[in-house]
Amino acid sequence: MTTLPRAPRTDRPALPLLVPQGPHGSRSRLTCRFRCGDACDQPLPNTTDHGHVRDEVAKAVARRSVLQGAAVGGGALVLAGLASAPAAAAPGAGVGVARAAVAADLGRTAFRPVPPNRRDALVSPEGFRSDVVVRWGDPVEKGAPRFDVRRQTPDAAAKQFGYNCDYVGVLPLRGRRDRALLVVNHEYTDPNLMFPTDLYDEDTQKEIEVLAHGMSVVEIVRGRTPGSWLRADHTRARRNRRVSARTAFTMTGPAAGDPRLRTTADPTGRRVMGTLNNCAGGTTPWGTVLSGEENVNQYFDASGDLDARYADSYRRMGFTGDGRGWSSIDPRFDLTTEPHEPFRFGWVVELDPSDPRSTPRKHSMLGRFKHEGANVALAEDGRAVAYLGDDERGDYLYKFVSRDRVRSGNGAAARRHNMTLLTRGTLYVARLTGDGTADGRHDGTGEWIRLTSDTTSYVEGMSVADVLIDTRLAADRVAPTRMDRPEDVEPNPVNGKVYVALTNNSNRGSDALPVDEANPIGSSMTRPALGAPLEQKSGNRNGYVLELTPARGDHAADRFTWDLMLVCGDPAAQETYFAGYDKAEVSPISCPDNVAFDSEGNLWISTDGNALGSNDGVFRVPTAGPERGRVQQFLTVPRGAEACGPLLADRDRSLFVAVQHPGEVDGATFESPASTWPHTDDFPRPSVAVVYRHA
Ligand code: FEO
Ligand code: CA
Ligand code: CA
Repeated sequence: MTTLPRAPRTDRPALPLLVPQGPHGSRSRLTCRFRCGDACDQPLPNTTDHGHVRDEVAKAVARRSVLQGAAVGGGALVLAGLASAPAAAAPGAGVGVARAAVAADLGRTAFRPVPPNRRDALVSPEGFRSDVVVRWGDPVEKGAPRFDVRRQTPDAAAKQFGYNCDYVGVLPLRGRRDRALLVVNHEYTDPNLMFPTDLYDEDTQKEIEVLAHGMSVVEIVRGRTPGSWLRADHTRARRNRRVSARTAFTMTGPAAGDPRLRTTADPTGRRVMGTLNNCAGGTTPWGTVLSGEENVNQYFDASGDLDARYADSYRRMGFTGDGRGWSSIDPRFDLTTEPHEPFRFGWVVELDPSDPRSTPRKHSMLGRFKHEGANVALAEDGRAVAYLGDDERGDYLYKFVSRDRVRSGNGAAARRHNMTLLTRGTLYVARLTGDGTADGRHDGTGEWIRLTSDTTSYVEGMSVADVLIDTRLAADRVAPTRMDRPEDVEPNPVNGKVYVALTNNSNRGSDALPVDEANPIGSSMTRPALGAPLEQKSGNRNGYVLELTPARGDHAADRFTWDLMLVCGDPAAQETYFAGYDKAEVSPISCPDNVAFDSEGNLWISTDGNALGSNDGVFRVPTAGPERGRVQQFLTVPRGAEACGPLLADRDRSLFVAVQHPGEVDGATFESPASTWPHTDDFPRPSVAVVYRHA
């Protein structure tokens, strides 16, 4: 095995200055419709005119570059009920992620980057191999029938692996080093690709789709080659579980029971049926999984006469369309019938994979918006800090700090306590201030603005419950920074900094959303097809990666500094920036979405919607040292797919990746697929794969 060269570099060019002004990128119309309800076609939901970064010199925060170990706090926490490795408390970590004598393979191994391509394959570098771990339709719960795409039933779907896998967590199983629990989100469904044309009646299809949403817990077992994993026999995997849009959830926190959360089926406002559009997530230090309910507006029919009291709330969250027709099987999806049902979605949910009988919860204390995910780090004093992104053009970055401290140990009392951490605390939204571009960098300072605690609202005219239920409207009043679709926001457990994937924003650079120091791209170079010449398009089409450094190295601090680490795109385009690394030596990258870290502190990025003509993929980027900013493409996913998850596990020997919506390109149908990956059938199957070193 070779390791990355460590030659010093001093010749870093400065970031180009603000680019002058110039929707959908390469994403298919089907993906836009079914995943986010054509969000880019809707009016900009954030109509405030505040919140662009001011070019001022702010002096409040001293810059600190290295915060060793801050993300795991005291580091003594034991994964309750699941493991005994202290460092496994690191967010995004999993099986045996602790630094050990074993080399951290994928963090250190040199590889020849995968070039941009349009292959219908998961392409990894020479010397690596990928296996499919679990596919849409594979049996999860006991009694699940073998998948037959032409004999699908709601009962079967409720027990089988759901559609369109997104977040991937891998949790240790105590006492079983050969086994682990894979926890996966199922974001949305695409009936055009799931069902043979005219084989099923519409309501049966809808019921199957309802049940193919949600989450899966799947026991996995090591394969023969180190780093490889297989799906375990589901008939013996007692923790295997499916959660869907028909699973009972408990609401927690100050908004639980609020009159706006009460419906005909649930007069208490505390018991919600199901979870929807589960996108990214995070594994907590106490061994549970968080999952973000994102584009929940698309499921509800808002075409009738609506309750005028909720007009602003519905508009700000985009409850403006006619839904997916699900009200024909369940009237709660019609706002004229159940005006409160939408308030029960758009939360962060918490699932305890160690207990298949546990009731998953929706935490009102983390606010309601289009949650991408939630990643927890520990503050210096042991409080839990969850970083949150609201994936919408021009929306905000958030953070939650718990009132109480995490308790170490895996006893029942510690476990009960830690399961309450996300129910009390304070919710903040971010405001970024630039320090000017004369320094050749897009950087500055920032503050976390309090919105509400569990007992006191800091937004005038809004109660605690108001702020939590209509978090976007509350944040609008305190002038946060409007960002370019904040997706994953994840602390790096090695350097303590926080990395934000800002996917793109077709409206950036418009009069309504001007460029600023933190959002500098109003015009982008794109490629309509692989190999085609670069073309200029208005807006930020290729995205950024933003790096936040908490003041004093403490995630609970209300100040931070920030630095635009990556301006994504083709390195041949003038506007791109790779932390100053030589642009001749980096891979093109477009539309960063999910992020992960290896135990070297390298950033791993998956992409969604490549605007450079290539398939999406996963990239490795060092965050420190002479290689900082060296973006290298580690894999590409099949045609029409986005890459999700990614997760380094098993001492960095395994890279798990969710291949979401393979074959979802314009014009594709079940009978005329654009992809047949993973090539086990004559139609595509969204699946989780694992990549590991083979030679
Ligand atoms: Fe579901 Fe923001 O991606
Ligand atoms: Ca600057
Ligand atoms: Ca995403």
